[in-house]
Amino acid sequence: MSEHLFIPDNAAKQEVYEALLPQIKGLVTGEPDLIANLANVTAALHQAFGWLWVGFYLVKEDQLVLGPFQGPIACTRIRFGKGVCGTAWKEQKTLLVPDVEKFPGHIACSSLSVSEIVVPVFDQSGKVVAVLDVDSERYDVLDETDVIYLEKITGLLSL
Ligand code: SME
Repeated sequence: MSEHLFIPDNAAKQEVYEALLPQIKGLVTGEPDLIANLANVTAALHQAFGWLWVGFYLVKEDQLVLGPFQGPIACTRIRFGKGVCGTAWKEQKTLLVPDVEKFPGHIACSSLSVSEIVVPVFDQSGKVVAVLDVDSERYDVLDETDVIYLEKITGLLSL
């Protein structure tokens, strides 16, 4: 896989994701190291969309622990059922939060973040082993299109 990422200019979000999907697949296919793959996925997403923060938290015993990310420093540990990340883990489903102030218990790692998507990452037995967290400083950026494609992207990770 080339180290150059192709991102179409002035394209609709869906088109950007469609261009990214095969490239992300190429990046992770054949590479067994989890951290290397998560690091490249966060870098690709950050480069493509310029979100405030994008990264993974890994399930370690009864907590989520910060993994590869791009953006400002963040909370290191999140408990099961806490915040958007811990809730997505507990409920085993993607959470789209258009306004974090309206999500009870939201954990503000950065006061700049106003909206968020958290996508659980499942292993082959269906267990949540990580979550992908995207944070934006804008209210009008994250939507169902992101949910659809971020779920496809996490599905490319064989954990
Ligand atoms: N806002 C998240 C915490 C993680 S950071 O935003 C990077 C939450 O409520 O779980």
